[in-house]
Amino acid sequence: MKVLVIGKGGREHALVWKLGQSPRVKAVFCAPGNAGTGQDGVNVPIEPNDFPALIRFAKKEQIGLTVVGPEDPLAAGIVDAFQREGLKVFGPTKDAAQLEGSKVFAKQLMRHADVPTAEFRIFDHPDPARQYIQSREYVVTPDGRTLHGPFTKDQIVVENGVKQFVINPTRRVPVNLSERLVVKADGLAAGKGVVVCSTVEQALQAVERIMVQEEFGRSAGRQIVIERRLEGQELSILALVAGRTIVPLQPTQDHKAVFDGDQGPNTGGMGAYCPAPLGTPELLAKIDETILVSTVHALKRRRKPFRGVLYAGVMVTNQGPRVLEYNCRFGDPESQPLLMRLRTDLVDLLLATAEDRLDEFADKLVWDPRPAVCVVLCSGGYPGSYPKGKVISGLEEAAKLPDVKVFHAGTKLEKNVITTDGGRVLGVTALGDTLSQAKRRAYEAVEKISFPGMHYRKDIADKALGLV
Ligand code: AMP
Ligand code: GLY
Repeated sequence: MKVLVIGKGGREHALVWKLGQSPRVKAVFCAPGNAGTGQDGVNVPIEPNDFPALIRFAKKEQIGLTVVGPEDPLAAGIVDAFQREGLKVFGPTKDAAQLEGSKVFAKQLMRHADVPTAEFRIFDHPDPARQYIQSREYVVTPDGRTLHGPFTKDQIVVENGVKQFVINPTRRVPVNLSERLVVKADGLAAGKGVVVCSTVEQALQAVERIMVQEEFGRSAGRQIVIERRLEGQELSILALVAGRTIVPLQPTQDHKAVFDGDQGPNTGGMGAYCPAPLGTPELLAKIDETILVSTVHALKRRRKPFRGVLYAGVMVTNQGPRVLEYNCRFGDPESQPLLMRLRTDLVDLLLATAEDRLDEFADKLVWDPRPAVCVVLCSGGYPGSYPKGKVISGLEEAAKLPDVKVFHAGTKLEKNVITTDGGRVLGVTALGDTLSQAKRRAYEAVEKISFPGMHYRKDIADKALGLV
């Protein structure tokens, strides 16, 4: 059989690599792919949003299964377009992909289905959103009364960075915040439409950027979700879903912030490991019952049945697991360590999902017992702007190390030289007998690789190793 993977990141390289290991597979194509998918498969220069060209290619090559990597073509209906042509495709339909494509849809579904998530409000105008944010401020006056915001400019002074409420010319009391907030653009924003805020000013600025300046486009910012900021550790729960069958994959943990110790702005993901011991059997059972089953059934009730990978980003709080977001596809970089450990034939598994036969695999997945760690190497400046075209060296030396696989993300082959072509450039992934050995091996491989401006986190998997 011939298979086609759509996309060009690290996740897609991991998919190409794993699908190519199936004895049933004759050829793996990747559209448009990167330098790594070109080594483990065959690149096809078609963009993921060019559905007519992808369909023509799939028909011409008699592709037996197309696997869609990124969210944008899913939200735009690529699965519906392939199915209309009688082509076999792995991923949710446009309707079901709304779970990721619209945060408003996802939060309303969670509310109706009683899926645990952060308390939230939805706004379609900036004024009530600002009013709501400002109403989160309050002061306790010297005579014991509580006054709630919004406060006027005349009522507030800032002294030494501390916001104070003016009682009278000589008396001030501090302004408190009843809860910290997260502001989210409704639509897809390449992972950047979520602003985790510590102050009212940050939240107001997020409303400005999303709704007024329309930084993520008019339609993505037409509505926003404002929700309560949750505290805890994050867990990525991916499950294959077809009809009412749910086959959870092993739990993984991503590292979203750009710097060690979870400092700095959020990125697409700086590294991941699998399995994440935070996902104890008890916690996973609870997530299965309160999150996965409820979500899948709620979608079915709305006549948007899900088929593909359902990915719940979960915050493990003191009160239990809470959904931060849903994705409707494999995670990146979670897929790199996850697929490195999967022993079950991925073509069989994804085909069974696409054909609604997933029940054949319930409780039957086989995993390499060894943990895997993936460290993402990034371009200088990422997640802000970054240069491209830097020559990467050391890839061959890294590849020689045992139980190491260097997955490419933003790379390009030009005149026989591999250069950088994106923010996240490589996902250096290693297996080890223990998590700490997997980590050591991954970083040994990282040491072999370099390109100008390269940066990466040094603490991937430390949370699980009890180091932080
Ligand atoms: P999302 O795209 O909704 O997953 O948000 C991206 C990231 O923002 C998450 O992985 C979290 O790190 C963070 N985040 C989102 N919602 C919240 C929340 N309610 N509380 C704390 N952090 C959040
Ligand atoms: N690693 C986060 C994501 O794939 O969205």
